[in-house]
Order: sequence, then structure tokens, then C-alpha cells
Amino acid sequence: MKVSIIGGGGLVGSCAAFALQCGGIVRQIALIDLNENLAAGHALDLLHGGPSTADQIIVSGGYEHVTDSDVICITAGLRRKPDESRLDLINRNTDLFASILQQIQKAGYRKDAIVLVVSNPVDILTYIAQKKLGLPIPQVIGLGTQLDTIRFCSLIAAQLKVAPTQTRALILGEHGDSMVPIFSSATIGGMPLDKFPGWNNQLAQQIFQRAKTSGAEMISKKGGAGFAVGIAIRDVIEAIALDQRRMLPVASVQEGCYGIRDVALSVPTLVGRPGVVDRLELELWPKEVQGLRASASALMPTLKTVAARVL
Ligand code: 2OP
Repeated sequence: MKVSIIGGGGLVGSCAAFALQCGGIVRQIALIDLNENLAAGHALDLLHGGPSTADQIIVSGGYEHVTDSDVICITAGLRRKPDESRLDLINRNTDLFASILQQIQKAGYRKDAIVLVVSNPVDILTYIAQKKLGLPIPQVIGLGTQLDTIRFCSLIAAQLKVAPTQTRALILGEHGDSMVPIFSSATIGGMPLDKFPGWNNQLAQQIFQRAKTSGAEMISKKGGAGFAVGIAIRDVIEAIALDQRRMLPVASVQEGCYGIRDVALSVPTLVGRPGVVDRLELELWPKEVQGLRASASALMPTLKTVAARVL
């Protein structure tokens, strides 16, 4: 499996490459970046670690690597300012993203290629990518709330002093201010979270708020997230590489799940080599479904503006 990372010279793209290298599942990683020297530096640095990680081909270069890639991961984009919302970022990122899509189209791509959008605002740009590239909806995935979900699980586990790998608490909807915590299915080691010793509603809200603002916290602390977003990207790409049919909270253009359509946001999604294998309308509490639909409504105004501009 070959993965191209557009923006591979940046923090997110290079962390994603390192996560894929440590995962050892994909065979080829190509870093593409406007800053060719930086991408080449990261690629060589990663290559140096190869003898102790996995037998992979790790290179940097141009869009020629897109042509035969199984997964095209787009991480390039300007970063938010600490007080800027992801939706505010759109004006600055739309033109850059549109030019990336043009270069992908020009290079050509496999008809079974999967495009994984990470650039923010990821839900808007996932929709734009699917429409501009004309790939079938299942082949265009946004990282969505997978990053929010693992952040949420990590904070719950740290608070309750339990194993992060046994902590399951989804966040769905927008990768942004209207994201929705899904407590109805949250578990620790298969036990309901809401019955776990030491857990209460106040703690639930506090931890959700911290997860929701973690993106801004990373920007203010270190200029932006890197390691965890790289891991979240690896989760999706390895689900594709292994055809895992893994349930992940990732974004795609919706076609009716929870009554939501024609907007991209995260719902429970089975991910495999075809990309979106299925979307699961799992039973949620009424307020969680309302939150999801509110998320769709929150995205619509910006989506309409951007779509009018670039589609
Ligand atoms: C974050 O939440 C980059 O949007 C990403 O950190």
C-alpha cells in the first residue's frame, strides 16, 4: 500500500508519516510539500530509522507520487490562530486547498484511490474534495472526530486512572465547536462509563470541554497538534490498508444517516480498503441525535459559501 502525504513537510504530515512508519503496515510513504527541502529532510530522517522499524520505502517528491497512491492524505493548510475557529480558517485555506485538488487532478490518481482529508476545516474541505475530484462518496474520507475521540478517551482514562486502550467514548459531528460527545455508548473495559466508580456528570462535561478545546490548547502550547493527529491519521489509513472494516468516527458526505445529508461530518463509519464501507446509524440518546443534526446545521452556512466559491 502506497500513501502520499500532501503537506508531508509540516508538523501534522510528518507526524502522520512517523506514525505510519512505527505502525509498519503501509509499504510506501511519499512526502509531498511546497517546502521540498523540509519534506526531503523528514523523509531522510524517517528512512534512517527504517532498520529498527519496518521494511518500507520512504521518499519525498512531487505530485507524481499521487498517481499510483492507494491513499492520498491531504494535511497541508495554514494553522488556526489560538482564538480562531476552524470555520474562520476557511477563507485562508480554501484557495490553497483548491490548488492542491487541481494538482491531484492533473497528476491523475487510481480509480480506487482513497482521499483522506485532514486540512481544516476538515468537514467543509472533505465535502469540497469529493465534489471537485468527482470520486465516489465512499472514497473521500475526512479525519473528522477521530482525533477528538482519542483525545476524549485519553482524558477520561487519565482522570479515572484506567487503561486508555480500554476506554471507548465517541465524539461525533463536526470537528469543531459543535462536536457531540456520545455518552450513551461510552464504556471502560466493556463496563458502562456512567456507572464507573468516580464518574459523574460534572466530570463528564469538564472532560468533554477539555477534549473539545484541545486543538486550541495544542496551538497555544506548542503551535499545533502533531503526535495525536498523526496517530489518528494512522488509525484511518491502516484500517484502509488492512481492509479492517473498523468502526471509526470519520467524516464523509452524508446520505441520510441520522436524517443528515449533503454535508460532511462524522458518524459511526465502517472503514476498509473501499474507504467508507458502511455508515452505522447506531442508537443514540435523543439529545445526541439532536446534537448531530445541530452540527450539520452549524456547518451549512460556511459550506454553502465555500461551495459557491470553489465548485
Ligand atoms: C486539532 O484539533 C489539527 O484540527 C486539529 O488539533
